[in-house]
Amino acid sequence: MESHDIVIVGSGGAGLRAAVGALQTNPGLDILVVTKTMPTRSATCMAEGGINGVLDFPGQEDSLDAHSFDTIKGSDYLGDQDAIEFFVQKASEAVRETDFWGTPYSREGDGRVACRLMGGHKYARTNFSADKTGHILLHSNFDYALKCGVRFRINSQLLDVAVTDGVCRGVVVRDTNTGAVTPLRARAVVLATGGYTRMFWARTSTPYIATGDGVGVALRAGVAFKDPEMVQFHPTGVANGGVLITEAARGEGGYLVNKNGERFMARYAPDRMELAPRDITARAIETEIIEGRGYGEGLGAHVLLDLRHLGRERILERLPQIRHVGLLFENLDLVERPIPVRPTAHYSMGGIDVVDHEHMKTTVPGLFAAGECSCVSIHGANRLGGNSLADAMVTGKQAGIGAACSIPTAAFGGDAALETLAASWREHFRETTSRKGDGATAPELREKLAAVLWEGMGIFRTEEKLAGALDAVVGLQKEFETAVVGNANPVCNTAYAHFLEVGNLLSLARCSLVAAKARHESRGAHTREDYPARDDAAFLKHSLVTVSGGDYRLDYRPVTVTRHQPQERKY
Ligand code: FUM
Repeated sequence: MESHDIVIVGSGGAGLRAAVGALQTNPGLDILVVTKTMPTRSATCMAEGGINGVLDFPGQEDSLDAHSFDTIKGSDYLGDQDAIEFFVQKASEAVRETDFWGTPYSREGDGRVACRLMGGHKYARTNFSADKTGHILLHSNFDYALKCGVRFRINSQLLDVAVTDGVCRGVVVRDTNTGAVTPLRARAVVLATGGYTRMFWARTSTPYIATGDGVGVALRAGVAFKDPEMVQFHPTGVANGGVLITEAARGEGGYLVNKNGERFMARYAPDRMELAPRDITARAIETEIIEGRGYGEGLGAHVLLDLRHLGRERILERLPQIRHVGLLFENLDLVERPIPVRPTAHYSMGGIDVVDHEHMKTTVPGLFAAGECSCVSIHGANRLGGNSLADAMVTGKQAGIGAACSIPTAAFGGDAALETLAASWREHFRETTSRKGDGATAPELREKLAAVLWEGMGIFRTEEKLAGALDAVVGLQKEFETAVVGNANPVCNTAYAHFLEVGNLLSLARCSLVAAKARHESRGAHTREDYPARDDAAFLKHSLVTVSGGDYRLDYRPVTVTRHQPQERKY
């Protein structure tokens, strides 16, 4: 059986940084990165505005404490404060480190890495490379990983992790080109598979691959899904489909206007205006639309983002990518016309329950998680712009270190379980692809799921909407049991690949609804119209959903508060 010391699943920023972190800890390790796509096409490239990290240049007012506090307040106090304090210190190191690797950051006139102000931050600490920071960081991480000798197995879809005697023994993957199902024995596994916002299929800024595979697999291995109800809606996706218009557009001075020509953010966040945190700005836009001050109707309803006053030169220098997005998706040049925007599902604050922020361990020995699929919890109920790339770099590196440090005491094992699991997946392919009849297809189910979630678990939630959505998702899971793939050829069977993704998405959506329905308060991105206040007495705690034999169980764990007692959150 193929064996590696460490198997890392996912090749975005977190997975690549984990691989390098492990090799920096122990250069002799045999490490394999398994990935569904080409590393340079991972979702990290969709994070545009920048990477947060305080750089200690003389004369600046910013500090690690200020970054911590902004992140804690931004999280609506659901973030664990010990994890956040550790994170901001390491984020600062990550920017210096990636600069040292040769990442082509934009520069100030004196040569410093350029930084901008993003929503919810008191100081400009979002270091950037125009509006392509994720893309640039992904490439420098990939280059560095190749230089360190990291090996890749691409076009490999994660099917399961094998756990025996409570210990992770490796993974089973499927080659999407050949259809071969292969067990990979490992002494440590790092899941870095990204988020799950494709559950909002038709309205998300994330790529088609963001289907929460790692979270689904961890759930099947008995690991809890932490804070699944905390899904971030980025305020500005293009009206036509939801592709990201970076917050950097507002960081550079762009503003939002309704159909009356008002800069309506004055009503919602008079001090921060367009640079309020994302939860507040997204709610403001939706409120304008609901109350009739937006343009258009249905899913295409929108407000406008006006950048014209920045001028062509600045837009081309600082925001070239979103100009391109405007041309592609709205057929307009935002140098000359305001661009229609509306909130779009963007980021998963919740994820695989990680219980140790230094080594990114899960509750299963030998299994680690990093990046958007993990929840340690840094972002709590609302992530600040620019903290996702920092999260990928920091949690990725720490998971790599954690996995490497675990190797001396981790033995190989579980071969029989790995073989059995692989055999059951081969049988799964045979059984599901031989189904006949008029069952639903995966594309039909994911479209229905997206509609149910946008309506029932969108920006504004109520008991009634959530209960209806939960019933609907349980119904979709039932339909999934008899769904048809329609293609029995193992070679390049994208229908089967999507079928597996939809199975995971349905399960994750059900977890999110179970937790959202039970959280009788409004906190960060979780806005309950029927419980409009935050309730610290009852809900200053993380939701933990586990799945066993078809049962979805909800537990809680208290939030770690160190120095900052929860306060009212005003901007
Ligand atoms: O708006 C943005 O550029 C997104 C960045 C992020 O999610 O951190």
